[in-house]
Amino acid sequence: MKPIHYAYQIAYSSQETLMFTYEMAIKYRNSPGVYVECGVAAGAQVIAMATGAPDKIIYAFDSFEGIPLPSNRDDQLPGIRKLKKWEQKSLPDAGKQVLQTSGATVVSLAQFMENLQIVGIQESNILIVPGWFENTVPFYAEEMPEISILRLDGDLYNSTWVCLQYLFPLVIAGGCVIIDDWNLIGCQDACKEYFTLIGYEPEYKFISTIAYFFK
Ligand SMILES: C[S@@+](CC[C@H](N)C(=O)[O-])C[C@H]1O[C@@H](n2cnc3c(N)ncnc32)[C@H](O)[C@@H]1O
Repeated sequence: MKPIHYAYQIAYSSQETLMFTYEMAIKYRNSPGVYVECGVAAGAQVIAMATGAPDKIIYAFDSFEGIPLPSNRDDQLPGIRKLKKWEQKSLPDAGKQVLQTSGATVVSLAQFMENLQIVGIQESNILIVPGWFENTVPFYAEEMPEISILRLDGDLYNSTWVCLQYLFPLVIAGGCVIIDDWNLIGCQDACKEYFTLIGYEPEYKFISTIAYFFK
């Protein structure tokens, strides 16, 4: 089976968005910069990136324990259910949550690696970073080279915020930023607030439920 067809089968997003990742991977394969996805789950988007640009280094961040518990900036337990207003209000502030799994979208590291092996992705180019973004991203960002594709798919306000805060400054001019969870209010608010804070106005474009822009 072709890698991209296998990726369709394990993806948590639409074929259209997966194809977009693949097209962007081809577009930037001769540009400087690594590719990064925060929230890889079973690896569909990583497979799309690696298929489009087999020689690129790809950073793959995930807890491999699922989506963590939300903060009071989120209106749902993504993949589980909407929160009632009183439930949302009783949650901790963003960044103060106990980092433990909500039980949604749990894909183990072993399963992620097996998926890469099934389609023959060259694993030496995939830098897998297991752990909560809040713990891993700030640390890895210190040593990371520039980024040409930054794909954010962590569903929650704080999962999005921490990745923007540490990784967006590394995106090259003209690089592509993909926000998979634009339809989730927590993610969208994190984007709007972060870019307002740094005085940057993204020119968003949309494909089904995702947003993207070129820096
Ligand atoms: C919807 S899934 C990603 C789907 C995948 N990108 C795809 O297109 O098939 C969201 C992933 O983000 C991860 N995630 C969310 N917040 C995280 C955090 N703060 N730290 C680590 N992983 C996180 C979850 O473990 C989950 O695998």
